[in-house]
Amino acid sequence: MRDEEDIFSFTDENFQKDPASTFAFLREKYPVYHTIDPAPHFTLTREEDVMQALRDEKMWSSKYGPGLAFSEPGIGVLVSSDPPEHTNERIAISRIFKPSVIEKMESDITELAHTLIDSFAENKSGDIITEFAAPIPLTVMCWMLGTPTADIELFRSWVLPMAEAVAYSGGREATDEVKTAYRDFFTYFESHIEKRKEAVESGGDYPKDLLTRLLTVAYEGRNLSTKEILGFCQFLLVAGSETTTLMIGNIIHRLMENPEQFELLKNDRSLLPNAIEESLRYDAPVHGLFRTNNIRMTMHGKDIPKNSKVCMMFASANRDPKAWDDPNTFNITRDLADLRNHASFGVGSHYCLGAPLSRLEGSIALNAIIQRLPNIRNNGEPIRTTAGVLKGFSSLPVRWD
Ligand code: HEM
Repeated sequence: MRDEEDIFSFTDENFQKDPASTFAFLREKYPVYHTIDPAPHFTLTREEDVMQALRDEKMWSSKYGPGLAFSEPGIGVLVSSDPPEHTNERIAISRIFKPSVIEKMESDITELAHTLIDSFAENKSGDIITEFAAPIPLTVMCWMLGTPTADIELFRSWVLPMAEAVAYSGGREATDEVKTAYRDFFTYFESHIEKRKEAVESGGDYPKDLLTRLLTVAYEGRNLSTKEILGFCQFLLVAGSETTTLMIGNIIHRLMENPEQFELLKNDRSLLPNAIEESLRYDAPVHGLFRTNNIRMTMHGKDIPKNSKVCMMFASANRDPKAWDDPNTFNITRDLADLRNHASFGVGSHYCLGAPLSRLEGSIALNAIIQRLPNIRNNGEPIRTTAGVLKGFSSLPVRWD
């Protein structure tokens, strides 16, 4: 008999190796699972429960942030806010993420993917994460935030420790690496934001990018404060770059592991969107994120005290046999419209604003790999990311002819 406190923790090696088995066990035996590791919280794993909770923002609040630690309410933008603030912020910011705006980046992202492949194709082997999957979304993020693309290595050195911190219980257990990453990020971006602010205020020449939008957007008669913009840029850097890196790595890994599916895709590129969505369903880059319940409640006979942190497991919802046929088979020929119901970009009003962008990046990256390195294959043990809420690889050695 397993002890309830020992069944699941994001940092457990068995969970990281085979999260799907842990989720299957939790869905069956502990649909509302309670643990104190590393801080008291609950976990919902059944598709029906996760979907219902995420659609009910009156009951399930985002105001204490999407991580395990309770963030200070009223400071975070978008992902850490509830209506009416969230609705206004979303209207104000969503314009920059509109599909028509994102589509304009297609040729630049395609050029970037091919330039990266040019730089390593002759080597016949390499690490597809560090050389390809990581630089693409980080470079795109630099374009959006108006920072030099030469700084992507620096950004990644902050992003990785920050991603680990999502499953931390609070500052007290933050390592020096995490503290340094936050400090360096804030120093860099504070000065970057101030310089842009001056350019905007003096009417000089400045890019009309996401950062300018954040500085000039007005709602309820005021602009966002520098603190709010800093918090949002920090969230974006983690949410928009590492997730997409993991997604690209997960797709390549899964296709190399399923050569017959890879062949299908090579012979029929119209399956590219299906391959991206099936990868997102099967290997959700974010296992789950947190909500806080506004009232005390009982679910499946379990008491959830008011203001508990409760993790909504997107990855488990995606593998629930009550919602998906044959959920543990990776199959890129599933119906595309059905596939788009996966929970990997979240559900309801906080649905990922970057979904069109990451789909575009994924599709361009995969197409470039098929064109340029069609016989890409494994070349040694991949290394999994250690960031608890994330799924994917920090290193994926590959070779090609
Ligand atoms: C494969 C890549 C990605 C995955 C798996 C992913 C996942 C998610 C998830 C699960 C949420 C919901 C958060 C919640 O409910 O608390 C979310 C929200 C969000 N994502 Fe993404 N994301 C990805 C890429 C991106 C990119 C590329 C960007 C932007 C450049 C982005 C920006 C955002 C924003 C702004 C929100 C907050 C929306 C809101 O609260 O209204 N994401 N993302």
